[in-house]
Amino acid sequence: MSGGPGVAIAAPAKINLYLHVTGKRDDGYHLLDSLVVFAGIADRLSLVPAEDGSLTIDGPFGRGIPAGPENLVARAASDFAEAAGTSGRYQIHLTKNLPPASGIGGGSADAAAVLRALCLLNGRDPEAPDMADLALALGADVPVCLAGRPLFFGGIGERLAPAPRLPEAWLVLVNPRVGLSTPAVFRARIGAYSEAGRFAEPVGGVERFAELLAARRNDLTAPAQTLAPVIGDVLAALEALPGCRLARMSGSGATCFGLFAGAEIAQRAAAVLAADHPGWWVEPAPMLTRPEAPQRI
Ligand code: C5P
Repeated sequence: MSGGPGVAIAAPAKINLYLHVTGKRDDGYHLLDSLVVFAGIADRLSLVPAEDGSLTIDGPFGRGIPAGPENLVARAASDFAEAAGTSGRYQIHLTKNLPPASGIGGGSADAAAVLRALCLLNGRDPEAPDMADLALALGADVPVCLAGRPLFFGGIGERLAPAPRLPEAWLVLVNPRVGLSTPAVFRARIGAYSEAGRFAEPVGGVERFAELLAARRNDLTAPAQTLAPVIGDVLAALEALPGCRLARMSGSGATCFGLFAGAEIAQRAAAVLAADHPGWWVEPAPMLTRPEAPQRI
C-alpha cells in the first residue's frame, strides 16, 4: 500500500437502533439483543511509528479525557503489542468529536480503531478470532466497533451476526450534554427481561424500517431517564421534528437519535433543533453500511 508509515482512521459513533435486555450472567453482566449500526460522525485517530509511545488528545470533547495508560486507546495499543508480540511504539493522536459517556460507544470505537490501524500496520487480519478476543477483553462494545458494519449484537457483545440489508437512512444524534455511567444505568434497571427482537426480512424502505424498530425498544431508556430526566425532553423534541420517523435512545444514553429518510430533511431538522436548544449537541449523519477505509499518512 502506498503512503507514509502511519495510519489515519475514523472511529464512528455506534448506534443501538433497538436494545433489549434479555437476561443477566452470574458475573453481573447483562445479556443484550441489539441491532447496531454506525453513523457518519466519528472521532479521528492517527498512529505514527515513533521511538517513544505517546497519546495526545484534542477536539470538541477532548478536555478532561485522561491520556494516561488507563485510556482505552492506550490499553488497546499495549494489549495488541502483547498479543501480537510486536515491540512497535506509536505516537497516537485522538480528536474527540463524540461526547463521552453518552451511549454511542466513543471510547470503544476509539479502541477498535486502534486495533484496526495496528492490524493494518502489522499485516494482521482484524477479522481473526484472536482480535475479537482482544477486543472483548477491552470492553463489551469493542468487538462490534471492530467489525464496524450493521450487525445484530448478542450475549454481552461477543455474539455478532449479520444484519439484513438496511435501507439508506439518516440519523440526527442529540446529546443534552449529560454524561451517564453505564453501570449506574444497568443498576437502575428493574422489571422483567425482554425477548430478543431480531428480524430476518430484508428491510425495503425507511418507512418499513421505522415500523420494525417501532415494535422494538431500548430497555435502558426508563432507567437512564430516572438518572437524567432530560432524555424525555430530547425524545419529545426529536419526535416533533418534521420527517422524523422514529426517536430512540442509544445504548445506556443519554444520546438519542431520530431516523430520517434522507440528508436534506435530516440536516434541516438538525438545524431547527440546534437553534431551539443551543446547549444540546446535535449532529445529522448518514447511517453507514461499511467502515470508512483507513488512510496511510
Ligand atoms: O464492558 P464495559 O466496560 O462497557 O461495561 C461497563 C459496565 O457496564 C460493566 O462493568 C457492567 O456493570 C455494565 N454492563 C452490563 N452488561 C453489559 C455491558 C455492561 O451490566 N452487557
